[in-house]
Amino acid sequence: MTNPVPKTDAVFLKHFAMLIGFLVVVAILLGALSLLIYGRNPPPVNPDKQKIVEQRIAPVGGVYAGDTGRAAMAAAAEAAAKAAASQVAYGGTTDGKEIYGQLCHSCHEAGVAGSPKLSDKAAWAPRVAQGMDTLLKHAIEGFTGSTGVMPAKGGNPALTEEQMRATVVWMVEQVK
Ligand code: HEC
Repeated sequence: MTNPVPKTDAVFLKHFAMLIGFLVVVAILLGALSLLIYGRNPPPVNPDKQKIVEQRIAPVGGVYAGDTGRAAMAAAAEAAAKAAASQVAYGGTTDGKEIYGQLCHSCHEAGVAGSPKLSDKAAWAPRVAQGMDTLLKHAIEGFTGSTGVMPAKGGNPALTEEQMRATVVWMVEQVK
């Protein structure tokens, strides 16, 4: 028993050790390569990170006091005013044609319910002769004449006087 490891096994062990050594070198190289790549291109940071942190450390109940509270209340009031403005009829437009198209045409286009058709100049002539003030008054307050009932503001009380004036002026221009 002078040589417990047969010669073939000794060769195998030598080659195997070389292979392991080679793989270790490859692993180290890959590790170095990855460090190099991520060092140059750091992974992206979540853009909401700051927000998330602030949410986490925010007090449980926001206090409506001091300058921040006042700003929050002012912002809320502004939002409420904006919401109220959107309640104004047809976005608050003073384009008579637009308002006519949205509402008045439903009667005045085809002469529904005894309304004078916008295309019927003869029917409008005596009405226009009453003057703008009377036409406007009848359109705003409503009016029962010889042919039917004109509802106040055409049935939409959200219309402003200015909007009504613009619409009646536009209608009168069409029947000239
Ligand atoms: C529900 C139907 C209806 C709608 C909607 C309507 N009208 Fe009339 N309108 C009438 C009728 C009916 C008359 C005629 C009343 C009469 O002379 O007997 C009339 C008459 C008028 C007159 C003439 C008033 C006069 O003194 O002779 C004007 C101006 C007028 N409408 C404007 C409008 C405007 C502006 C709108 C939209 C904002 C509108 N109307 C929407 C039914 C309607």
